[in-house]
Amino acid sequence: MSAHDVGGNTSLKTSLCTRLGIDLPIIQAPMAGGWTTPALVAAVCNAGGLGMLAAARLSLEQLRDQIDAVRRLTSRPFGVNFLLAPPDAAPTDVSAIQRALDVGRSKLGLMPGSTALQLPPSQTAAQFDLVCETRVPIVGFAMGDPGPWAERAKHGGAFVMAMATTVDDALRLQASGVDAIVAQGSEAGGHRSSLDLPSDAEAPLVGLLALVPQMVDAVQVPVIAAGGIMDGRGVLAALVLGAQAAQLGTRFLLATESGTFDAYRQRLIEAAEIDTVVTRSLTGRAARALRNDVVRTVESAGASVLGWPYQALAAEDVYRAAIANNDAAWAPLLAGQGLRLARKASSAAEIMASLKEELALQLEALNRPA
Ligand SMILES: Cc1cc2nc3c(=O)[nH]c(=O)nc-3n(C[C@H](O)[C@H](O)[C@H](O)COP(=O)(O)O)c2cc1C
Repeated sequence: MSAHDVGGNTSLKTSLCTRLGIDLPIIQAPMAGGWTTPALVAAVCNAGGLGMLAAARLSLEQLRDQIDAVRRLTSRPFGVNFLLAPPDAAPTDVSAIQRALDVGRSKLGLMPGSTALQLPPSQTAAQFDLVCETRVPIVGFAMGDPGPWAERAKHGGAFVMAMATTVDDALRLQASGVDAIVAQGSEAGGHRSSLDLPSDAEAPLVGLLALVPQMVDAVQVPVIAAGGIMDGRGVLAALVLGAQAAQLGTRFLLATESGTFDAYRQRLIEAAEIDTVVTRSLTGRAARALRNDVVRTVESAGASVLGWPYQALAAEDVYRAAIANNDAAWAPLLAGQGLRLARKASSAAEIMASLKEELALQLEALNRPA
């Protein structure tokens, strides 16, 4: 890390920043679900950070439109991220879970849930072709080892990153040739980015303070810290631990450009550090989310949660109706633990400006003689 004061302006441009072509060591996490809009991604890029689109749950056409939209809004580098976890075996009986979710359906005015679940064909391979063909400069992966995909993206000139929750998984990603590894601490919102972990096995939950330095010591590629980082103090702490950038998700859910629906945003603004839980009840894989009626109802139903992504598929009509009705009780509200650190919505440019200012203030405080 090189830190110096330029007329009160602090530069924390790490060598990873130089390789990514960004000015600040700040990455806006890709967040599937419609939250990381092209407007958000481009605004973060234009403010000197790295914005990332999330490909998961988009059609090929939607991803193409989003990439085009980002390119209209910024000429800076940006990324696209893929979730790699393969589907679990199809469940044989979904009726008990559907009966539990019917509680939400009756509140939302929906018909009882279908017991015949049909998983749509995966879009990931076609989306990945698109990203390679259109030369998206940064390609990210989570919940799996990209293996040959990393090689192909790199061959096309992309910078490749992937997310890990343990040192062993980080070593595997390094062996697959990724250019950087996101260390996902247990504080992080969203799915636990484990490689090959059966979705009903206990997901490792190592806190960021312990994970980052151990990963930094074990791998040769740059490490990016993710999980609970909401302000300049967190970004600086990540750099002190040896990370070369910080990846922030929950903080950017509050950006006005994010697609976050109002009731979700309001819960994020009001929630405290104890209000999230790591649960399989939303999608079938461990994810950190705010506790709400879906989580409570499914967890207490006494029915086995379906595998990934069948649990999400079973609840799809409930989630869609809840979001359309601005109902935070029955939608998945993925979120990290740093919740008290952001209490209002502001533009992505304002978030980036305050992160930069806080970083400068923290550095100044550290340098001040006792
Ligand atoms: C709503 C939400 C959706 C997410 N979706 C993705 C995703 O599609 N791909 C991915 O790599 N990470 C995803 N993540 C995890 C982030 O990459 C990152 O690990 C996490 O946001 C960091 O913790 P924080 O939210 O406390 O900042 C998501 C996180 C949230 C909160």
